[in-house]
Amino acid sequence: MRRGVIPPVTPGFTTPEYYHRIGRILERGKFDFVFFADLLAAPIRFGDDITEPLRRGTQATATLDPSIVAASIGAVTQKLGVAITKSATYFHPYELARIFASLDHITRGRVAWNIVTSLTQSEARNFGHDDHLDHEFRYERADEFVRAALELWSSWDPDALVLDKKDGVFADPSRVRAVDHDGRFFKTRGPLNVPRSPQGRPVLIQAGSSNTGKDFAARWAEAIFEIDPTPEGRRAYYDDIKSRASDFGRDPDKVLIFPAFIPFIGETESIARKKAAFHNELADPISGLITLSVHTDHDFSVYDLDAPVEDVRVSGTQGLFDTARRVANRDNLTLRDIGKWYAQGVLLPQFVGTAEQVADQIEESFNAGEADGFMVSAAQTPGTFNDFVDSVVPELQRRGLFRTEYTGDTLREHLGLGDVTFGPAQRLQSAS
Ligand SMILES: Cc1cc2nc3c(=O)[nH]c(=O)nc-3n(C[C@H](O)[C@H](O)[C@H](O)COP(=O)(O)O)c2cc1C
Repeated sequence: MRRGVIPPVTPGFTTPEYYHRIGRILERGKFDFVFFADLLAAPIRFGDDITEPLRRGTQATATLDPSIVAASIGAVTQKLGVAITKSATYFHPYELARIFASLDHITRGRVAWNIVTSLTQSEARNFGHDDHLDHEFRYERADEFVRAALELWSSWDPDALVLDKKDGVFADPSRVRAVDHDGRFFKTRGPLNVPRSPQGRPVLIQAGSSNTGKDFAARWAEAIFEIDPTPEGRRAYYDDIKSRASDFGRDPDKVLIFPAFIPFIGETESIARKKAAFHNELADPISGLITLSVHTDHDFSVYDLDAPVEDVRVSGTQGLFDTARRVANRDNLTLRDIGKWYAQGVLLPQFVGTAEQVADQIEESFNAGEADGFMVSAAQTPGTFNDFVDSVVPELQRRGLFRTEYTGDTLREHLGLGDVTFGPAQRLQSAS
């Protein structure tokens, strides 16, 4: 074995430089924020076995805690927002409220929380449960979780930290309150032991696709992530969420919808198509099915790979699976085909072409009422982000569709969400 000759492998995703580079590229491109998803378990669902995920390095086999990554990126950027997932099922509201208040201080007001209820049995097993909580129950619990966190974030008034050396006053006790939250699922006394942060609280993000999930998103989220490969699906989702938000008495313009896509950009259309084809051909069907098994919380290892996809009821993300099955039925796809498709980018649409053509697709989707903005997902990091920032961003700027400079400092300002107000209405103990 030529041990001395093989260059050492640098596991990029475990180094700070990897994240700093992504942050700097996206900030150069004037992005609103970078997002890090998270699961609290290795992807052990396909065949109830970790062997293949480990060998193949499938999604979420190994990831760093996103709150640590967020703090690290925040230290080398000045404007870029940092959005991370934290589970409302496996944390306590106090712990979570403290993490996000701290992150909001450390990033000077650039943090967002993607609220998830956690999808998988593997996560439950890591936290001492044999099975995970029922879908509807998880959302009921998450609802109270968010209320309790909001109460904790409002326990310090903005001017409570006095730091008056002359009179020896650290904080004004009349401006810091206990919250005494005593609900069905959570009890927390408060106040938070972190002063009011620059944004007041993190920007709230969600990505529900079930009926209950969409209601939750429409009630709480200020930004919503969406995956749908078809323009019709994206339009329907957009209209649905906006009308649900109105039903909850919210301004639908303050509930931003961000569908995701993967760009493949080339100097010519044919180069871009070759890039996309190369990427898609490399996709490994088993890796796709391992990830599909995690997202749906259903073991797809028990089916014939070369048969049509069966009509099964899954306990995880029903929406993505329904989309996969709809397309599979239409195009006569086998489970292997679905696995390959899923590995190409978890059903994300691909925008392929020159910078102008990719900008055309973004503009079209925006004008068709599918989106308020977009999540740019990378086929490779940081290559995809570099290509996009160097070619598509300037094209969008030329068209007046994208900022040329940040005009604010906080993520709320980038997103045009306005200030957080914690009036009595936000006390929420009894609000519906
Ligand atoms: C773009 C996007 C990102 C997501 N990120 C996460 C994540 O990081 N962790 C997680 O457990 N779930 C994540 N989800 C899953 C959602 O929170 C949600 O559970 C899923 O879309 C299914 O919807 P439902 O909960 O309404 O059934 C994500 C979903 C989407 C579309």
